[in-house]
Amino acid sequence: MAQTWTPNSWRQKPIQQVPDYPELAALEAVEARLAKYPPLVFAGEARRLKTALANVAEGRGFLLQGGDCAESFAEHGADTIRDFFRAFLQMAVVLTFGAQQPVVKVGRIAGQFAKPRSSGIEKQGDVTLPSYRGDIINGIEFTEEARVPNPERQIMAYRQSAATLNLLRAFAMGGYANLENVHQWMLGFVKDSPQAERYRKLADRISETMDFMKAIGITSENHPSLRETDFFTSHEALLLGYEQALTRVDSTSGDWYATSGHMIWIGDRTRQADHAHVEYCRGIKNPLGLKCGPSLTADGLLELIDLLNPANEAGRLTLICRFGHDKVAEHLPRLIRAVEREGKKVVWSCDPMHGNTITLNNYKTRPFERILSEVESFFQIHRAEGTHPGGIHIEMTGNDVTECTGGARALSGDDLADRYHTHCDPRLNADQALELAFLLAERMKGGRDEKKMVVNG
Ligand code: TRP
Ligand code: MN
Repeated sequence: MAQTWTPNSWRQKPIQQVPDYPELAALEAVEARLAKYPPLVFAGEARRLKTALANVAEGRGFLLQGGDCAESFAEHGADTIRDFFRAFLQMAVVLTFGAQQPVVKVGRIAGQFAKPRSSGIEKQGDVTLPSYRGDIINGIEFTEEARVPNPERQIMAYRQSAATLNLLRAFAMGGYANLENVHQWMLGFVKDSPQAERYRKLADRISETMDFMKAIGITSENHPSLRETDFFTSHEALLLGYEQALTRVDSTSGDWYATSGHMIWIGDRTRQADHAHVEYCRGIKNPLGLKCGPSLTADGLLELIDLLNPANEAGRLTLICRFGHDKVAEHLPRLIRAVEREGKKVVWSCDPMHGNTITLNNYKTRPFERILSEVESFFQIHRAEGTHPGGIHIEMTGNDVTECTGGARALSGDDLADRYHTHCDPRLNADQALELAFLLAERMKGGRDEKKMVVNG
């Protein structure tokens, strides 16, 4: 029997991954301040995203979700946000063109600050300190002072999220995302890469189509959809005190919404059905993500689906699968079959990053071939099961980093040291992200041609 839900009912449940704040009074004071601050996103926007995701769940559309593993206070700047957005728009345009379906655009941004850790402590030599848990909680420097959780950081994360969102809204709605700019989104360092030529060709075709449409009277002035795009934000809802402070009643529907971002997800480490994170998420009306790793059983998944989406509403729940290139064939089919058997409406998304992390020359990295291989398997399995491969969830940046090996420029283990900047997990650089987008577009085009053959034959 479901208990009554309130924004703080999660506090009665067992909880994982909680920081050890030294002064509870200071934490409570910060939460009380945040509870008075304006919401970062609006309920109507979250509903709009849910409608877009409902189309994806029904096979009409593709979810592109990506951004930093962890946003950082130090790298908060206009250039970083703009370059991420450019790389993201390029991917979106490649996918829209390839799939000939709408692409739902969701950033891991403007709130992606808290990190679950496999160990509460980190050891370097003889020194043991609390683990870094993301800039919203403590500092990454390996000093005692930095690693003490500081509640004031929640205020800083809130303000950074607001500023980031403000710029993203301006880019998405103010002309930057205009399809007439499709050539200008190319980043300087990508210009001489193998992907650049491919992108230029595609951009030429789009420009030509735009010129044709202009000739017949369809322009970005009289058709806002050519110059604007819906861009949504998302993050892992890990730090529940922060989430609770930003949980608000929507005056038009009377429902509770998380206003820290449009979509929030539950991590693979905090998805226990009777624990706090599931409890918090079940009561808010935003679209939800659920990370699914190898330890998730079919029955466990069905139990979570019933808790998180009891009305079986399409668009409410996205299953973000992160098995690893060598495990996806073992785990994905059994979950798909259980969901299909029970007639549950979900978006199937592939996170090809988190199951493919290895250590090389003391760096955490991810071989690009393994990322591609998990994506390939994801598509093949869905084709075989007759279900819709609905989306992708990646860690990426618009900067020219060297964090994942491989790709068309064949980054090696020795290159990792050059520009390894991530605060947590290795990200695809803009070049690798674009390469992945082209591969995805080909696979989606393949699926489309197959469907046509079925219809015509
Ligand atoms: N509004 C449409 C969309 O978001 C078309 C569009 C405008 C677009 N700017 C874009 C698509 C940038 C991809 C990238 O899909
Ligand atoms: Mn990560």
